[in-house]
Amino acid sequence: MSLSQIARSIKASPTLALNEKAAILREKGDPVIHLGGGEPKSRAPMDALLAAVNSINTGEVRYAPADGIPDLKKSIIRYTEEYYHRKVNPENIIASSGAKQALMVALQAILNPQEEVIFPVPYWVSYPDMIKLCGGIPVPAPAEDGTFYPRLKDIEMRVGSYTKAVIINSPNNPSGAMYSKEFIAEVVEFCEKKDLYLIMDDIYHRLVFDGKKPFSCYDFTKLSVENSKIIVINGVSKQYAMTGFRIGWAVGNKKVIEAMANIQGHQTSGPSVLLQKAAVGALNGIQSSVESLRVTLENNRNILIDLLSSFNGVKVTKPDGTFYCFADFSAYEKDSNKLSQFLIDKVMVLTVPGKEFGMDGYLRISFCGTIKDMTEGIERMKWALDPNSPNELYIGDRKLVRDWS
Ligand SMILES: Cc1ncc(COP(=O)(O)O)c(C=O)c1O
Repeated sequence: MSLSQIARSIKASPTLALNEKAAILREKGDPVIHLGGGEPKSRAPMDALLAAVNSINTGEVRYAPADGIPDLKKSIIRYTEEYYHRKVNPENIIASSGAKQALMVALQAILNPQEEVIFPVPYWVSYPDMIKLCGGIPVPAPAEDGTFYPRLKDIEMRVGSYTKAVIINSPNNPSGAMYSKEFIAEVVEFCEKKDLYLIMDDIYHRLVFDGKKPFSCYDFTKLSVENSKIIVINGVSKQYAMTGFRIGWAVGNKKVIEAMANIQGHQTSGPSVLLQKAAVGALNGIQSSVESLRVTLENNRNILIDLLSSFNGVKVTKPDGTFYCFADFSAYEKDSNKLSQFLIDKVMVLTVPGKEFGMDGYLRISFCGTIKDMTEGIERMKWALDPNSPNELYIGDRKLVRDWS
């Protein structure tokens, strides 16, 4: 069988593969703890559920326009005004099947083969493969000082004649780092000066802690949305706990949005009307679920940081937002794939290897699950990794024996 060059260059999504692995182990009856997940466990907002039910009850579920239904665009216009301080028009918006598809059609709309896209390290696992799917070249930009907080020079030094775009994801998956206003202002100014697209992946933008407030990249440009090459990506998946609804969107200039809609129109058509209605319900309805999720996550973050700080040898940077902590386990094992596999095999704890995010030696540990799972998961990891641990560990009535050093 001969597959395309592009197909051969693309890996399976490691986070989705991990979800499958957890499901298979659970089905076998193994007491797995999944600390690698990327979705909040709270219920979707009632307004979202009611809107979807009302829509299905009409019995008329038809095709949607390729760029989204007018009601959802109206909600996104209001949302953009509230959180981005910009008045946009329906032509500046496209609704897609998740932020993932919005990102993908944005890249397809702007990239020619061999053009480069720069993004800070650590990065969301899908960026390199999405760029490759468009024939482009991913250019990861590690911070020179080794932190999770890049500086403009880390990006600047990688810009060349093939550079087409920069992707910024803040707060960041996997590090939880929220980049400073100064940094975002510099990147906005720099991309304008160099005439580059700037894709702001804001999927976690309201999930921030310690009194931090989400801010808008448009606050740092004098250009109108129409004249700007900023493309803002957002959606209901994370902050409204609606990952399975698959609704995301992009805001940008008319031309780029039209190109994205043309592409999406041929690929999938518009996202399901039912799910778009649910997103309208979430965006227009009572907003308390977002704050309550944010508070829960902040509390979970604090507990996880406490648990990890009792772990000799693990270096932790406190996440400013999201629901991920990216901890340095290199004192135990430098190969994060090996370490992650070891933890699954020995104590049935799932974490995501840092290598997938561009930093080996790290593990991504999620704090969107229950406190019980986090506490027990970290206890098991400690037992497996600390050579001074007792010889045995009981998980329910299952006895594990430490037969490694
Ligand atoms: C940084 C980032 N961007 C985009 C997405 C995709 O979001 P969605 O589920 O809406 O497609 C994710 C999901 O994990 C993410 O972490």
